[in-house]
Amino acid sequence: MKINKLPTHVAMIMDGNGRWALKRGKPRLFGHKMGVESLKRIVRACIELNIKYLSVYAFSTENWSRPKEEVDGIFGLVEDLCNNSLDKFNELDIKVVTMGDLSRLPNTLKNTLVDIKEATKNNKSLIFNIGINYGARAEIVRAVNNIISDGVQECTEQTFHNYLYTADLPDPDLIIRASGEKRLSNFMLYQCAYSEFYFPKTHWPDFSKKTLLKAIKAYQKRNRRFGGLKQENK
Ligand code: IPE
Ligand code: IPE
Ligand code: MG
Repeated sequence: MKINKLPTHVAMIMDGNGRWALKRGKPRLFGHKMGVESLKRIVRACIELNIKYLSVYAFSTENWSRPKEEVDGIFGLVEDLCNNSLDKFNELDIKVVTMGDLSRLPNTLKNTLVDIKEATKNNKSLIFNIGINYGARAEIVRAVNNIISDGVQECTEQTFHNYLYTADLPDPDLIIRASGEKRLSNFMLYQCAYSEFYFPKTHWPDFSKKTLLKAIKAYQKRNRRFGGLKQENK
């Protein structure tokens, strides 16, 4: 693997937990639980590979339509992950940020997220961006409303960018969706303008550092032109 052409920002659609569990005769929530283990592996792998930004899709604005038991189960897992990982995050120099509307989340989860963001705000090695109650359309509409209420007269692309949840993040270079589905499901629609996509069949609980390396190798073979002309693949 070439270390000089690493993606700066990798974004993950962590899909396939439910199917992974059902295939094993287990409840869907077991799949989500194992999905958290996968996520921990991938966070570590990103640190080892010196990837600077990792965004993950943990819960979409559309996922509220699932049974309450599953929704509560997912929220509980995110809360436990944050509560159990603070020391690890500080040890590994990981800064937690979020994208999505936290106001609709249960108070305990919301407070846990606010606390972990505050407690890790000076860390620098990896920016770990959790998409929770996140939907790209809601993000764009929120940006528009805030731009209006701030009385902005002329909105440039830079201004608009500054109103997104991801104002402090570069656009994702590589978006990976696990489980073989080839769609974005309302994920980072504005930011993905020039992202490269990778769709492994692997369900998220089976996703490993090896899968990530394969994705990065595929990414390194792509010729990113950004509307210009072909560059020599160095
Ligand atoms: C992704 O796994 C995790 C979330 C949406 C929270 P799914 O729960 O969507 O798993 P499948 O797609 O049903 O297999
Ligand atoms: C996208 O997966 C959301 C997350 C991974 C959190 P979904 O499973 O919700 O997407 P669809 O319904 O298959 O499009
Ligand atoms: Mg799914």
